[in-house]
Amino acid sequence: MSAESQVEPTAPQVIGSISELRQRLTEARLQASAATSRRAGDTRRSPRVVLVPTMGALHAGHLSLVARAQELGDIVVVSIFVNPLQFGAGEDLDSYPRTLQADVAALAPLGVPFVFAPTALEMYPNGPTATRVTAGDAGTLYEGAARPGHFDGMLTVVAKLFNIVGCDAAVFGQKDAQQVFLVRRMVADLNLPVEIEVAPTVRESTGLALSSRNQYLTEAEKLGAGAISAGLRAAEAAAPNARAAVAAAHGIIDTQPLVKLEYLVVVHPQSFLPVDDGYRGAARMLVAAYVGTTRLIDNVPLDLNSPPARVS
Ligand code: PAF
Repeated sequence: MSAESQVEPTAPQVIGSISELRQRLTEARLQASAATSRRAGDTRRSPRVVLVPTMGALHAGHLSLVARAQELGDIVVVSIFVNPLQFGAGEDLDSYPRTLQADVAALAPLGVPFVFAPTALEMYPNGPTATRVTAGDAGTLYEGAARPGHFDGMLTVVAKLFNIVGCDAAVFGQKDAQQVFLVRRMVADLNLPVEIEVAPTVRESTGLALSSRNQYLTEAEKLGAGAISAGLRAAEAAAPNARAAVAAAHGIIDTQPLVKLEYLVVVHPQSFLPVDDGYRGAARMLVAAYVGTTRLIDNVPLDLNSPPARVS
């Protein structure tokens, strides 16, 4: 082991102020580019800042996004902000887990230099912003139908975070497939100079997709919730026949008494509109379900291409 690899990573700087974060990032960029130009043979590219936007209550899924961010860039910023703009009336804004100390402790061994953890007042000094990013029609389907205004609030805070951090790239989790689709479209539509990277969903051994909301589940509910990913796996196995895939997923999810399916849909990856039966190509199956009082989402890619014709 080299002397360099034995150095203990330092705990992240936790910064709540937008102006301080910008100052620290300017310094960090200068330091990183000075270090790069000192190294022999290095090409003189400018250091890349990569953002991992989160609402905290970090789990192994978030840590995998951080690991991907570290591969993609030189300076990683993890934002931790429970964004009131993306919660509707009656949703879990007040009870959403806020575990900043534990989150910072979880990030410390990874060597993340900056955690941006602003207050709502810092982000919205004049109350909810009058100016919003709107998600359009695709933002009113599925998650958007269940949570009106959610995606406008999400896109608005993501755009703010991109501007605050001035990041070159940002990493999102595939579990929130509709969010990823809408963020990518916002970046394209508004010409935001941010590369969007998507990291695979991390799952428990039961297949349950990791989510900060899993901590609301009882042990029995956690076990029952495994039916959601089992249904999705059955759908994958039944592809390329779209009808068979949907039937296979229903066959498993509908028979688990603790799971109450809200929607199960197969969408086109480029439009996020439902595909029709004759569709051939790449697709994605999206699911939302209640397990007890906890609403969970998950998704898998489906290959709906016809299998190659057998040559006899
Ligand atoms: O996925 C989340 O945790 C949130 O929607 C995000 C992207 C951090 C915006 O608040």
